[in-house]
This record gives sequence, structure tokens and C-alpha cells, in this order.
Amino acid sequence: MKNTVFIFLVSILFTAQTVAQNYDKQVDDLLKKMTLEEKIGQMNQYTGFFDITGPAPMDGDSKVKYDDIKSGRVGSMLNVRGAKQIREMQKLAVENSRLGIPIVFAMDVIHGHKTVFPIPLAEAASWDMEAIEQGARIAAIEASAEGLHWTFAPMVDISRDARWGRVMEGGGEDPYLGSQIAAARVKGFQGTDLSATNTIAACAKHFAGYGFAEAGKDYNTSDVGTSTLYNVILPPFKAAAEAGVASFMNSFNTLNGIPATGDRFLQRDILKGSWNYDGMMVSDWGSIGEMVPHGFAKDGRHAALLAAQAGSDMDMESHLYKVHLAELVKSGELDEKLIDDAARRVLLLKYKLGLFDDPYKYSDELREKELLMHPDHIATATEMAKKSIVLLKNDNKLLPLAKSGKSIALIGPLSDDKTSPLGNWRLAGDDGTAISVLEGLKKYPNNTLQHAKGLNLIGERIQFVHEVEINTDDRTGITEAVAAARGKDVVVMVLGEHGYQSGEGRSRAHLGLPGLQQELLEAVYEVNQNIVLVLMNGRPLAIDWANENIPAIVEAWQLGIGSGDAIASVLYGDTNPSGKLPMTFPKTIGQVPIYYNFMNTGRPGPIEMVFWSHYIDETNAPLYPFGHGLSYADFSYSDLNVTSKAMLNGAKVSVNVTNNSTVDGHEVVQLYIRDYFASVVRPIKELKAFEKVFLKAGESKTILFDLGEDELGFYNNQGKFVFEKGKFDIMVGGSSMGGLVKTIDL
Ligand code: BGC
Repeated sequence: MKNTVFIFLVSILFTAQTVAQNYDKQVDDLLKKMTLEEKIGQMNQYTGFFDITGPAPMDGDSKVKYDDIKSGRVGSMLNVRGAKQIREMQKLAVENSRLGIPIVFAMDVIHGHKTVFPIPLAEAASWDMEAIEQGARIAAIEASAEGLHWTFAPMVDISRDARWGRVMEGGGEDPYLGSQIAAARVKGFQGTDLSATNTIAACAKHFAGYGFAEAGKDYNTSDVGTSTLYNVILPPFKAAAEAGVASFMNSFNTLNGIPATGDRFLQRDILKGSWNYDGMMVSDWGSIGEMVPHGFAKDGRHAALLAAQAGSDMDMESHLYKVHLAELVKSGELDEKLIDDAARRVLLLKYKLGLFDDPYKYSDELREKELLMHPDHIATATEMAKKSIVLLKNDNKLLPLAKSGKSIALIGPLSDDKTSPLGNWRLAGDDGTAISVLEGLKKYPNNTLQHAKGLNLIGERIQFVHEVEINTDDRTGITEAVAAARGKDVVVMVLGEHGYQSGEGRSRAHLGLPGLQQELLEAVYEVNQNIVLVLMNGRPLAIDWANENIPAIVEAWQLGIGSGDAIASVLYGDTNPSGKLPMTFPKTIGQVPIYYNFMNTGRPGPIEMVFWSHYIDETNAPLYPFGHGLSYADFSYSDLNVTSKAMLNGAKVSVNVTNNSTVDGHEVVQLYIRDYFASVVRPIKELKAFEKVFLKAGESKTILFDLGEDELGFYNNQGKFVFEKGKFDIMVGGSSMGGLVKTIDL
């Protein structure tokens, strides 16, 4: 019996090894057959655009590009989708090029695909890793059914700056939560078998420091110290690598003076060196060429050299590898071994995807028809939307609303909008496919509902880009909205940002409600204070006035296709909200960057005199802290027990959580630590564990956590992970503020 098990184990091991070795051998054999130009060809990625008569190149220079494909000079295309379109373009490569190497087709599949899921920041608010993984899974099922092989997601950039428009695309401000999300999304996209036709390769981006753009201005300089780099920025990337992410993307920014695209330290020393990462690195769009305006490369040729030396394996749309690499090798400036290494990584991805077995395997038009916008996908996206909603405030239990006998006014420029809730970055998602709040509320017919927008949206869709604003000067609708609000039992106001007011290139210098929305809110408040404010936004907003005056505030982000249904379900109590903020909300923009895991400083205060770390015109406290989120249930924490395991440099933690209410609900139990003194100063709080737990009305549960060196240690300024003995606080609660505390000495 034992022998059989042994033989079985050996055979598994042997098979696993042969598979890996097989690819190595196949890649080696193929590389030997390839000319220098063909190897460089694998390092080029071009964009296409969607043309119903077939794929066509964007720049109109079609002959050159088709010829490039036919001669094996294109490794990858992005922005071509559709089973038929991809099959046709693949044919050009496979049937014409000398070695018939297939192209890998990529696209930004960011939150769902045709079925649009909540924006990633909203999903992060669910703190539900299974649901997040499932969201990425469905995105992969739909994207692969459209013939795609590879997504440029997840974006795992940590950011502490709500001005930065791309916070909508990430997991928020915390490296621990961000790491869990990174791993969940990678697993969701890639499944357990990259060669299956319903999985796609993922890409951890943007490596690194892009989320630390100064003043939150997109593409801006990042200057961060070693401690922040290792302890805050890199952990989610490492988690993605450990989860087996098939690729990385570098970034537009400079990090400490070096453009990330040309940064050897990041790409060769850390990623491909210490982390031993064998996947591939794609540049960001044109980022190789951008090293010239950055002032790092003297011209395009120099930029190509620096990027290739630094470890950028594929050139997305700079067209510089294509022009310069062969000559750089021939002149002896660039070692051909680096070209071999880059081409090897690209080819390996193609082998892992199974493209050499069947280059057309993902292009199945029947599957495409059957799976895009499948009702099960829409239902899952709606469930995800419900989980992503955060109840920020609920004075006097204004929510949930009674289901009958009430008069309701629904107001706001976003109240009936079917496009904005889809958010930014949804290339396959069609305008107008979201359920609006108006449609969602109409499904509860036993209240009266009067609708008045108050303000309009202005703007247009230019090609793939929307430029939309919320009315900045037309006040004509405000009177009607005020009249609708007068005398109603409740006013539901849907305000915030249009879906295209966050995302790439959409940094904001103001964090209030855009356009005339604050004016509309205050005008309505004059006649009716029973307001439920439903916020739709792609970033934290500074809404201090609303927090002071409005009794109930619901954070509804941009929730995708099921938006209105999810919001109505929460407003009427069919869903008990359970989301928690993945990013701190500031009171005012002057507090930004504001984040919960800050350092104590030598003058934490408060003291009588002015000489402590504070503002003289605003408190240090945020509007809503990281981890905050209310429920219709009422949870309490008790009996925090911490047993230190000094020998093992760890601790066992238990805590009781009770639902003291008459409704069932989910609570996210959060564990934070504070390391009091260390060779590198540690934050006043760091999230190290959490569990989302379901508690029936009146139910209590004991939640257990195990802390070890992984949780209690940190990276020192040499980039080494260390554990240092000393005094630690262990804090457990329902947000990053408050909670129960026990102190241990290790
Ligand atoms: C973005 C990337 C994206 C790429 C391709 C760039 O502008 O920064 O995140 O993947 O475009 O669309």
C-alpha cells in the first residue's frame, strides 16, 4: 500500500517536472531556430482596433503592420477582441510566418468584461476574497470566450492619494488587504490551468510606485523611501508573483529618479532576481519612448537599449524595440543573451496558454455567443455589487426604508443614469447596460416615487474615451428638484462623480462633489432634511458638509451592471450592508495623503502648545477611517485573548463577536498590530488579519487568529524581512479606529 502511494507521488512529481522541462526544451529548440529579428519580433506589442469587417491597425499603416505579422515580427496584439477577429489575425501570423509562432492577444479586462462588475476599489470594499476571485473568474470566462488570452490586470498599486484617478482600479491603501486581493484576482483570472480555454493570463501592474505619483497627478514623479517601497508598495506585487501571475507590467513614473521601465533594480534585481520570477514583463503603453522626455534616455535608440537591459521584455506601442534592438545587438552594445531571455519569457507564456497546441483554441464563436452577458454572470455581478456597498452613516436608523406607505423623492444627476455606474476601464462593457437607481427603486412599488434629476450630465463619448462632467452652470433643474423633495417622507439623492471622472488621466485637484451638486444638496436640505445620500464615485470624496448634516450616507461607488438593483436592495433592507472602506476618506483635501497606517512621529500630541504634528485649521482625524462601514445589525466585541508564543515569535488571538440586533448580518473582524519600537520605525497600526463572518440575529462567534513572524516582522532598509522582539499591541475591531487592545511582550 505504502509503495503504491510512493509510486503515485513520484509519478505526480515526475509528471509535473516533465511538463515544466518540456516547455523549457520546446522553448530552447524553438529559440535555436529563430533569427535575431524573429526573437525581437516576440518582444513587440501593437494595438489594433475593433472593426466589424476584421481587425485593422490603428495607425492606418496597415501594410507595414500586416507584413510585420506575416513575417513573425509581432509577439502580441492588444485591443483586438472577438472570437472571429482574433482567429483571422492569428491566421495571418500562424499561416504566413516562417515558424508559425502564434500571437498572444491582450486587453484591459479590469472589472468583469461584457458583464461589468463593480470597479476594483468597490470590490475591495467587500473584503470578500472568494467573491473577488469569482469576479475575476467570470471576467476571464467572458474575455476568453471573445478569443482573448491575456489581461492587463490586476492593478495592485497601493495608493494613499484620492486625487489620483486610478485609485478606482486598485485595492486601496493597505498592503495586507491589497496583497490578499492581488492573489485572489490572479487566481480568478488564471484558474488552476492556464491552458484551459476559459482562463486568461493575468498581469500585476504597474511595477512600481505608480500609485505614489506626487500630488496625486497621474504619470507624475514618485519619490519613496526604502521602507515604504518594501513594506507598502512591493507586498501586493510579491503576493501576485507567489500566486503565479503570468506577467508583470512596469510603469510610466520615475521611482526615485529612475523611470520604472528602465529600472534594473526593480526588474532584474528584485523581480527576476530575489523573487526568482520566470514570467514576462511588458512595458506600459509607450513607456519605453517616454524615457526620453523623462530625461533618462537621449533618444529612442538609447531608450530601447536601457529598457532591454533593465528587463522590459515586451515593448507596448513604443515601436522602438522593432526599430533599434537588432542594430544594438549587432553593434555589440546589447548582449544577445538578454534578447534570448526576453523572447524565452514571451514564448513560455504562449506555451503555458496552450497556443502552440492550438493557436485558435480560444476562438469559438458559439461559446462567445453563449457566455457573454450570461444571466448567471449578471446575477453574480449584482451580488458582488451588494457586497461592495458601504454604509457610511445612518443616524436615527433612517435606513432601511419601509417598503410601503411612504412618499419618496429621487433626485440627482446620476439617479437614472445607466452608463456612469459602469465606471471607467470597461472596454467591452456597453454604454447603458447598468440598472439605474430609478429602475432599482421602481421594483419596490408600494411607495410613491417622484423623480427629478436637478442637474444634468454634460459631455460626450469620443471614440473609446468619454469626457463627461456634471453640470457646472445650468441651475434650471434645481427648482423642480426642490419642489419634488418638499413634504416627502424621504429624499434619496444620488450624487458623486461620473464614471469617467476617475480612472487613467483623471486626477482631481478638488475632492468635493463635482459641478453644482453641493448646491443642489444644500437647496434640497433647506426643504427636507430626511435625506439618504447615495454616493457614486471612483475615489474617496471630501464631503464634510454632508457628513455633518445628512443623516444617512451610502457609498455605492460605481457598481457595474447590477448597480440600481443592489442599491435598492440595500436601501430597503433586503441586503444588510457589509462593506468596509479600503481607503480613508479625508475631511478636506489638505489632509491628503491621509492613511490609517501612519507613523507616530516624535510629537504625536495633542499638547497645549502648537508644537506637535497637526494642522491649526483642521483635525488630524479622517472623515471616515480605513475599515469603516456600518450594518443594520449591531455588533459588539468582547473577550479579546492573546496568548503569546514567545518561543515561536508569535501569538494566538481569540475574540468574541456578537450580533446584538434582530437582523442577520456580516461583520469584517479586523486585526491590527502595533510594533512599539524597531530598528525601522513601524506604523501606529497595521492590518495583519481579517475574517468576514456571518452572524445571525443574537448570535455570538469566537474568531481565532494566529500571528507569526510573517505578521509581526517587517522589511528593513536593506530589503531583508526581519522579526524583532519587543512590545506589540494586538487590536481587534470592526474598523481601523477603536476596538479591543491587548499588549504582549515577545
Ligand atoms: C495603462 C495600462 C494599460 C495600458 C494598455 C496604459 O495607458 O497605464 O494600465 O494596461 O494602457 O491599455
